[in-house]
Formats: sequence, structure tokens, C-alpha cells
Amino acid sequence: MSKELTLHINGQTYEFTIGRKLGQIPESETLLETLRERLGLTGTKLSCGEGACGCCAVLMDGKAVASCVTLTAECGGKEITTIEGLADPVTGELDPIQEAFLEHSAFQCGFCTPGIIIAVKSLLNANPHPTEDEIKEALSGNFCRCISHYQVIEAVQSIVKGGEQA
Ligand code: FES
Ligand code: FES
Repeated sequence: MSKELTLHINGQTYEFTIGRKLGQIPESETLLETLRERLGLTGTKLSCGEGACGCCAVLMDGKAVASCVTLTAECGGKEITTIEGLADPVTGELDPIQEAFLEHSAFQCGFCTPGIIIAVKSLLNANPHPTEDEIKEALSGNFCRCISHYQVIEAVQSIVKGGEQA
């Protein structure tokens, strides 16, 4: 018997059924597969596929999770936000974190960047004024092989400082 599944992703609602028939979502399908292969949200990247690198991070109810080890069938009713959902849907204005990353050139190849930005969003949702150590701790699960970490820390600190001055 198939089961209904309602997903809330980037402010949109998607109705699926869980099952083995064509078009249905198998129990074993990961959220990353659903995002990239069914919904075309390819900003979320696949790298290790084992929950170890942070490239596939998305927000679930405001908190970063590794979508490569999250089953879609368990995401019913959760608010999922991917990198595509961070900009203002009406004006297209980028999230301040995205602006800060651009301003500080906090990426090189950019493959890890969506996951890092999501991790920063998750951190700032929980703690708008993190210390440098707290920023490093929050990003300790996000790997960047281009070694963009210094610029990433600078970018995050600029947002925190901006928030303190506002
Ligand atoms: S691809 Fe998911 S944590 Fe590495
Ligand atoms: S910018 Fe290339 S992996 Fe991080």
C-alpha cells in the first residue's frame, strides 16, 4: 500500500507517494536524490555520500542536516530549505550570508560552498553572535579542498559584526 508524503521545500509544497511504482518515492531514496533528481535543485551537492563532508547540507526546520543520509520518506511536514531557497523569492535579493561570501571571495571552485552557507545559516539561526571558535566548531563538518576556510571565517565574522552594529 502506498503512503502519501507532503514535502515543503523552499516555500513550495510537493505531494508524492511512497512506494515502488514508477514516479513514487522508494523508502530508500535520500533527500539529496529527491532534491537533485526529481526537483532539479542541483545547488545541493553530492560528494562523500556518507554524511562526512557537509557538501549536501540543507536546512530542516532551520537546522543543517546532511541530505545524503536523510531519507525523504522521513521528511514529511518538515520545512526544507536548500541553497536555492535562501534568496528573497520576490526580489531575488541574496541572503546576507551569500552577499558576504561574494564580498570576501569565500570560495574557489565553489563545490563545497552551498553546504557551508547552509551550515552558517544554521549557526546564525541558533546563535546570531558566534565567537570565532564557535564559527570554527559549527563548520568543522564542512570540508573544502580548495582551502577557502580563512575567507569563510572572515565572511561570517563580517556578518556577525554587521549585526552587532545594526
Ligand atoms: S555528500 Fe553528504 S555529507 Fe558528504
Ligand atoms: S571552494 Fe572548492 S571545495 Fe571548497
